[in-house]
Amino acid sequence: DQVYLGVDLGGTAIKVGLCDEQGNLLQTDEGPTGTEHGPDVVLENIAQYARKLVTESAYTWDQVAGIGAGIAGFLDIPEGFVKLSPNLGWRNVPVKKILEEKLGKPVKIDNDANVAALGEAWAGAGRGIANIVCYTLGTGVGGGIIINGRIYQGSNGMAGELGHMIIVPDLEAIDCGCGKKGCLETVSSATGIIRMGKEAVERGEHTSLALVENIMAKDVFDAAKTGDETALRIINRAAMYLGKSMATVSVVINPQRFVVGGGVSKAGDILFDAIRKYYRECTQETAQEGVDIVPAILGNDAGIVGAAGLNLRG
Ligand code: BGC
Ligand code: NA
Ligand code: ZN
Repeated sequence: DQVYLGVDLGGTAIKVGLCDEQGNLLQTDEGPTGTEHGPDVVLENIAQYARKLVTESAYTWDQVAGIGAGIAGFLDIPEGFVKLSPNLGWRNVPVKKILEEKLGKPVKIDNDANVAALGEAWAGAGRGIANIVCYTLGTGVGGGIIINGRIYQGSNGMAGELGHMIIVPDLEAIDCGCGKKGCLETVSSATGIIRMGKEAVERGEHTSLALVENIMAKDVFDAAKTGDETALRIINRAAMYLGKSMATVSVVINPQRFVVGGGVSKAGDILFDAIRKYYRECTQETAQEGVDIVPAILGNDAGIVGAAGLNLRG
C-alpha cells in the first residue's frame, strides 16, 4: 500500500500526517515551527518530523508516494517557491527543491487554504461534491476553490485569495496586510473581529467586552450569545461581508457548496445564520437552488489531509 504525507506549515506549529488513498488520516504528529530561526531550520524541522512520523507508523519510507505541504502566503506553485509569506517572514524560498533534496520524494506545495479546501473536498464537508468554495477564518481569511475535485490555482497561483476580495465600501475601508484597503480579511478574520471589539471598548460603548482584559474572537462570540449588542453588531458585520462575498463568488463560480472553517467558524449558528441571511439577500433566487453553506468538518486536520492529497488529486 502507498501512503501520502501531508505537511501543514503554520507560523507556530508544523503538523504532519499520513493518509491512505481514500483520504483517511492514519497518523499525525506535530512540533514547533522554529520560525525565528529562518527557513533553513524550518525546512530541516519539516524533514525530521516527516521521517519520525513514518518511522513511528506501520509504514515504511518506501511506501510514501509523495509529500505535499500547505503554506500561508503567495506561492509559485508549479515551481514550488514561496514568493512571499508575511506569516513566516519568507521571501523567495525554494521549498520544493530543498525538501526533495532532503527527503528524496516528490514534493508539491500549495496555499494553506487551498489545501484545507482540498482536504474538505476529499474527506470532509465537501465529500462527493464536484465544486466547492472554502473559506478559512483565522488570523487571516483564506480561500480555496475546488472545481471538479481539484484545486483551481489561477494563472499565477492567486486564485482563491478570497480574503483579499475588496468588499468594504470606501468610507469604511481600512488598510489590509496585503497593502490594499477594504479587503474581506479586515472585517471577517479573527484579527478583524478583535479589532472591532477593542475599538468599541475604546469608544466607550456599553458592552461586557469592556471587562475583558485581552479580547479574543471567542470573547466576542461569547458576549454575543448573552445578547451583548456591541458583540452582536460586530459578528453581524463579519457575517454580512462573508455572505455578500459568497453571493459574488456564486455568480463567478456557482459552486454547489460553501464550506467555512478556521477558528472563527467555531462560533456556530450565530455566525452561520447571519452569513446565510446575507447570502440569500444578495443572491438571485435561481443561483441559490441546491446551494448550501456549511461548517468544515475536518477542523485542524483539513490542512494535512489536503496537503497529503496534493500528490493524488491536487
Ligand atoms: C493570505 C492567504 C492565506 C490566508 C489564511 C491570507 O492573509 O493572503 O494566502 O491563505 O491568509 O492563512
Ligand atoms: Na487560497
Ligand atoms: Zn488584503
